[in-house]
Amino acid sequence: MEKIKVAVAGVGFIGPAHIEALRRIPNIEVVAMFHPFEAEAKEKAMDLGIPNAYADYAEMLDKEALDCVHVCTPNNLHFPMAKQALEKGIHVVCEKPLATTVAEAEELVALAESKGLVNAVHFNLRYYPIVRQMKTMREKGQLGEVYSIMGSYLQDWLFFETDYNWRLEPDKSGESKAIADIGSHLMDVIEYISDLKITQVMADFSTIHKTRKKPLKPVETYSGKALNPEDYVDVPINTEDFATVMLRFDNGNKGVVTVSQVAAGRKNRLSLEIAGSKETFSWCSESPNELWIGKRDAPNQLLMRDPSLFEPEARSVVSFPGGHNEGFPDTSKQIFKEIYADVKAGKPSATPTYPIFKDGLRELLLCDKIVESHKKEAWVTV
Ligand SMILES: NC(=O)c1ccc[n+]([C@@H]2O[C@H](COP(=O)([O-])OP(=O)(O)OC[C@H]3O[C@@H](n4cnc5c(N)ncnc54)[C@H](O)[C@@H]3O)[C@@H](O)[C@H]2O)c1
Repeated sequence: MEKIKVAVAGVGFIGPAHIEALRRIPNIEVVAMFHPFEAEAKEKAMDLGIPNAYADYAEMLDKEALDCVHVCTPNNLHFPMAKQALEKGIHVVCEKPLATTVAEAEELVALAESKGLVNAVHFNLRYYPIVRQMKTMREKGQLGEVYSIMGSYLQDWLFFETDYNWRLEPDKSGESKAIADIGSHLMDVIEYISDLKITQVMADFSTIHKTRKKPLKPVETYSGKALNPEDYVDVPINTEDFATVMLRFDNGNKGVVTVSQVAAGRKNRLSLEIAGSKETFSWCSESPNELWIGKRDAPNQLLMRDPSLFEPEARSVVSFPGGHNEGFPDTSKQIFKEIYADVKAGKPSATPTYPIFKDGLRELLLCDKIVESHKKEAWVTV
């Protein structure tokens, strides 16, 4: 059987996670990778076991007969790299955020549609099995009407003023940092599970470290912890480390989300509490295999991730029996399973089950409105 040929562009933190997940799916071959620094590209390819390394993205697209490209570079490069691939007739899986502006994202949505190509955004957190289970339980009426949603996404990898990354630079990350980086996952999961639309936002941001110490050499995500702070320069920071956003939903009810990248001890913690007219769901990504179900007139329940206890619609994103815990790396495998069914077919299905460029555009729009609300200190309609 002919293998699907894939390239991964950007091999810092998340690129290798894509490669590992792709290798867990049959009949896919990662044939090439892109890394912009010529001196390191070959060594990275050797470490990752990829035959062909390129420091020139256009050359890779020209020379390799690719079916699909994964864009895993800093945010500002998502738009040009996804666009180049689509123009060459290559399917694209893009990291979030899809682009850095709404206009760019709109262009990508239109281009992918006009070319009839598979277009996906790696909103992998949707693929925690309990998230699919909550969505299905809500669809089947177990939650009832959504009364309120409270969510947070907390991290600590930017806690110290010596923590530094390209995400702190608006020309690479976009106008927002924490909201674009992790708030996008949180709001995507909220709308995905509830099927509600956020209609209005009221945001308040803080920049905890108003200056940071920038190392004089590049630092990949999370690797900053291993560096000795030796050669730094002080740089002003003007994007948010922390944000709280009040939300109004299209069912007339309300919610609130808080994101922080300076919350000591919180490593990568997405937490949700969805209160409905029948029960409450509470779930946290740091204990991803357990769903707390709150009841007013009966004992509360704790549902463990177990395909035999799940709704049939949620079983498809579970690979192991109960007690054999699945986590973050499994989410990418599950999302790629659904995306690559379409890549194999050569075109997107009529109703893709995975997040597409339109979902990426939706998050950019929300992010735009949230930034606007913070600046105006007012409610903004989406
Ligand atoms: N879905 C998720 O859970 C998740 C998690 C982490 C990151 N991400 C997204 O993935 C993207 C990459 O994040 P990361 O944490 O892996 O970043 P990173 O800094 O660790 O790695 C980025 C890689 O991109 C390439 N790169 C860096 N600078 C470049 C430049 N100037 N020109 C071209 N290529 C360059 C390099 O190969 C580098 O290793 C971001 O958009 C981020 O939002 C998503």
